[in-house]
Amino acid sequence: MKIRRFAMLIVAMAVGTSAMAQSLDIDQRVEELLQKMTLEEKIGQMNQVSAGYQAIDAISNGQVGSILNVVDPVEINAVQRAAVEKSRLGIPLLVSRDVIHGFRTIFPIPIGLASTFDPALVERGARVAAIEATASGVRWTFSPMLDIARDPRWGRVAEGSGEDPYLDIQMGVAMVKGYQGDNFADPTCMAACVKHFVGYGAAEGGRDYNTTMISERALRNVYFPAFKACIEAGALTLMTSFNDVDGLPSTGNDWLLRNVLREEWGFDGMVVTDWNSSGEMIAHGFADDLKDATKISINAGVDMDMMSYGFIQHAKALVEEGKLSEQTIDAAVRNILRLKFRLGLFENPYVDESLARKVAYAPEHLAAAKQAAIESAILLQNNDNVLPLAKGSTILVTGPMADAPYEQLGTWAFDGEEQHTVTPLKALGAHFNVINVPTLTHSRDKSTANFKGAVRAAKKADAVVVFVGEEAILSGEAHSLSDLDLQGAQSELIAAMRSTGKPVVVVVIAGRPLTIEQDANNCDAILYSFHPGTMGGEALADLLAGVAVPSGKLPMTFLRDAGQAPFYYNHPMTGRPNNGSETLLNDIPMKAGQTSLGCTSYYLDTGYGPWLPFGYGLSYTTFEYSNLTLDKSVLNKSDYIHIDFDLTNTGEREATEVVQIYVRDLVGSVVRPVKELKGFMRVTLKPGETKHLMYDLPVSDLAFWNRDMEYVVEPGKFQLWVAGDSASGEPLDFIVK
Ligand code: GLC
Repeated sequence: MKIRRFAMLIVAMAVGTSAMAQSLDIDQRVEELLQKMTLEEKIGQMNQVSAGYQAIDAISNGQVGSILNVVDPVEINAVQRAAVEKSRLGIPLLVSRDVIHGFRTIFPIPIGLASTFDPALVERGARVAAIEATASGVRWTFSPMLDIARDPRWGRVAEGSGEDPYLDIQMGVAMVKGYQGDNFADPTCMAACVKHFVGYGAAEGGRDYNTTMISERALRNVYFPAFKACIEAGALTLMTSFNDVDGLPSTGNDWLLRNVLREEWGFDGMVVTDWNSSGEMIAHGFADDLKDATKISINAGVDMDMMSYGFIQHAKALVEEGKLSEQTIDAAVRNILRLKFRLGLFENPYVDESLARKVAYAPEHLAAAKQAAIESAILLQNNDNVLPLAKGSTILVTGPMADAPYEQLGTWAFDGEEQHTVTPLKALGAHFNVINVPTLTHSRDKSTANFKGAVRAAKKADAVVVFVGEEAILSGEAHSLSDLDLQGAQSELIAAMRSTGKPVVVVVIAGRPLTIEQDANNCDAILYSFHPGTMGGEALADLLAGVAVPSGKLPMTFLRDAGQAPFYYNHPMTGRPNNGSETLLNDIPMKAGQTSLGCTSYYLDTGYGPWLPFGYGLSYTTFEYSNLTLDKSVLNKSDYIHIDFDLTNTGEREATEVVQIYVRDLVGSVVRPVKELKGFMRVTLKPGETKHLMYDLPVSDLAFWNRDMEYVVEPGKFQLWVAGDSASGEPLDFIVK
């Protein structure tokens, strides 16, 4: 045994040494190259442009370090040759693109991926995206977006993982691993870019780019965790956000980019601005002009300038005027060169121009995209178990999203091709006898002219399936909404289908949580599908026919009304929590006394709570949680909480439940959330099957940034839930000494 252990030690040392040697080798190569560079060449590396052939002269002159938005491998090789074979030092370009939820094979939008609560599947999807994108020559993506989003009016909720820091971490780390793989120098490694650092999703009013007011404690407890975790998982780059936090635009915030990112977290990757976010500090009123903005950005810790052109125009003069040191420039250029060496670009700068079309839409890629679309769908309502519909039955299919191949791909699907999209209408024929009567041409269509035809056709159908939602353009960047109800005459269409007396199933294909409670009263079942991507139609058809069973869970709270925003499950209790005794608008008597309605935190019109809670999602079966126990009720900070429970499938179908573990810290040195997700697991059970399950939660996971801005577990009373959503289950009490 000793010999084996010794041999293992030798091997481990050898591996460790080789990794260290490689790292030393890279740092040594960076230094050697840096020594050869002129100031102009250094600044050229800090300049990123959205161009290919148009930038070939600048590239040949060493004035460009990276390009974005070029995906033709022939063009990429051409501009790469200009960098490698024509520029004085032959430094290869970083070729980048927003590969956000797939390249050619489009997966569900990231909020849909989060709904799967399946990090392994999300990692697989990111790997597929990397394989397809790198085959075109793209080696850097601006993903994952880690912005915590608590306000569905903000259009970019589509691109993130919702309102919970723990889920955000799991999804972000999965994407980083999927994009980058195990070997950065592998040609299929695509550098991840964690964005937007930081707090972009807290835009006041849910209006994109708006100001944010986030305390340091909230940054550390809510908005930082996923960034820190992804950096610990090896994320190679980070992007600064457009917004200001408490008056400081992130692109000029040295506390963020130097104190936190570099000194506290030890990040040695590369920092890029968002599109012209350096130049936008002029509009913010934080910089006088582009030269001033450039000085602020580089001194704050930015390495690369996306599309302000400020660095290439002004950095040299700033150094000559002593407003910028060449040491600061060197530090930025080291980060850029290190990334290029890590990606193996010096050894392998070009791409095989025949590869892209060979790997695009590979069957295994489409299969992964379909599985992701299946697992991302969330069953919100299923009255009288109308779903699944009987295979072979006759269904009337209508609604603007039934056959919208472009829209179904969702926002940030630049390189998806709608001709490859399988829409629900195309797929449903495999399971049903389909009568299709088009009614609304798109979500904002207000014409009810075709409704009568649909009502007539419904008479021949066993059920009606209405596909509603929103086009891709209605969510994503700069696309905020103040009203989240279904657009156009979609609600009227649902009501018209209700009038037929047939079972009505509504499928929502959208980029955000919409306020559809009023529509729920006009239908029997609702299946929610955040823009499901290329294979969404097949996935939805299988779900409607029961070939697949819904398992998705809400990554964001669904509101009754946009006026409730922002609302999130992990909120503080307040000093006057809702207690259910409140009087609502229609019950208020005349001359009601000033304090007679209930002085707690609620709305007179919509009451207190949302429509549906974070973590909610139904199945075609039911699950029962029982025998929940903790092995100890008094724990030390170094302990693990050993959780035991039974889960039973009490229905007739095999299905998967996303078991969720929540904790509450009852008393803290600052007020604490009423619940926090601390773990989840996907459990598949056959009909009638019971599994005894265990989960070990480290007490250290209960740590938070407290009143003294220390990251600690505070002793005291806690509660723990194991349930199928954030509003269910009975807590168990425990104490941490
Ligand atoms: C955009 C987005 C950012 C994206 C970048 C490049 O404005 O804010 O997420 O990666 O520009 O397209």
